[in-house]
Amino acid sequence: MNERDSEAVAAQLVAKGYTLAKSEAVADVVLLNTCSVRDMAERKAINKMSNMIGIAKKERPNQVFGFMGCMAQSRGQELVDKLPDVDLVVGTQKFHRTADYLDEILAGRRDKIVDTAAEEKSEAAIREHLLNGNAQKSVSAFVSIMQGCNQYCTFCIVPYTRGEERSRTIDDIVTECRDLVSRGVKEITLLGQIVTSYGRREKRDEWRVTSGASASFPSPVTRHPSSPFVRLLEAVHEIPGLERIRFTSPHPKGYGDDLVDAYARLPKLCESAHIPVQSGSDRLLKIMHRGYTRERFLGIIEKLRRAKPGIGVSTDIIVGFPGETEEDFEQTLSLAREVEFDQAYIFKYSPRRDTPAADMPDQLPTSVKEERNERLLQLVNEIAARNYEKLVGTQVQILVEGPSKKNPARMMGRTRCNKIVVFDGSDRHRGQVMDVKITRAGSFTLYGEPDILE
Ligand code: 5AD
Repeated sequence: MNERDSEAVAAQLVAKGYTLAKSEAVADVVLLNTCSVRDMAERKAINKMSNMIGIAKKERPNQVFGFMGCMAQSRGQELVDKLPDVDLVVGTQKFHRTADYLDEILAGRRDKIVDTAAEEKSEAAIREHLLNGNAQKSVSAFVSIMQGCNQYCTFCIVPYTRGEERSRTIDDIVTECRDLVSRGVKEITLLGQIVTSYGRREKRDEWRVTSGASASFPSPVTRHPSSPFVRLLEAVHEIPGLERIRFTSPHPKGYGDDLVDAYARLPKLCESAHIPVQSGSDRLLKIMHRGYTRERFLGIIEKLRRAKPGIGVSTDIIVGFPGETEEDFEQTLSLAREVEFDQAYIFKYSPRRDTPAADMPDQLPTSVKEERNERLLQLVNEIAARNYEKLVGTQVQILVEGPSKKNPARMMGRTRCNKIVVFDGSDRHRGQVMDVKITRAGSFTLYGEPDILE
């Protein structure tokens, strides 16, 4: 989400005549978009900013510095008090004001700007794309469908930094997606803090499709009326030329049968799901305020696998939440064994200001968090390696995105299940959907040979 927000701000600046600098060392303006979800991210951003300011003082006295995003939102003026050379602090509902604020600062009209106020309709302000930001045509794009979160998990700072849930209209989102597809994009990932809550808080007629975008829906075949999110998926699915749809992240609480059915009904919806589980212990899920049980989570996975065998499943897990006992942690290990995630992002619990969990008793020592992190990581890696290995010899469909990051002489694409495949190819293959045979499995990477190399 942060990458998407940064891209939109960069595109807004480019539209105003700015150009992207090759590095911060040659830039007139440096904006750091920030994350607050764990303390380490905040510390990194502050260190990076103070290092850059230190160098600029000697070499580039006129360089302009700004903080954007979640840390900017939660700390505001405090950041300028701490680092007086910071010129601009832009909160999460003000990304789209950045270009105007920079103009004012560069023209000398204003010295410092700190804006962390709420702004109505800001959820629809992240829309510009930099499709050839690195001189290569983008095959895959992110589209922000909503902002904010109302779940208030006891560990999480996001509701305080991103505000209340606000959704864009289906019309607005479909228009953006159509435009991306007309510019060569083949795959769209719909983004939100909790996409399954999309449109649930809006008045019905605000997100209903009107003329122009996608007036017709496939006739509903689900037993229950679809949720606004599934209706959005259906509307995006109708865009001609779009090959693949993904979304992140859903919440298990909102993972209804209509969404499971959507995988079976909508061929462009890729067989992959990132569903954050956070813990395998019912006791902890309750204290975390997650709103589901282990059984409910396992039930969703089972239904998804019934609808789409082989679907890629990934998750987020927190270890060392306050009061997590060895027994609780073993429940998480056993859940990981039971589900066999293709990938799991494991986080050591990090106390966040203003969140209830930060004040809970029984905060665990770092050593315990590290040890549990290690054990879970080992288990997840072992299971994933085994399952990646099973794909050797099979044929998979990939969408070719561009050169492999590790070895730019080779190309990379993703399977529908969201696994990376590296193969010998050339730039001609970029944007192509092609079948490859998997010849080898590495760590979270597959290696393949195209069926026919044209
Ligand atoms: N400490 C550690 N991890 C956290 N996450 C969110 N808040 C915290 C925290 N306080 C993790 C969750 C979430 C992911 C984006 O970050 O697993 O899904």
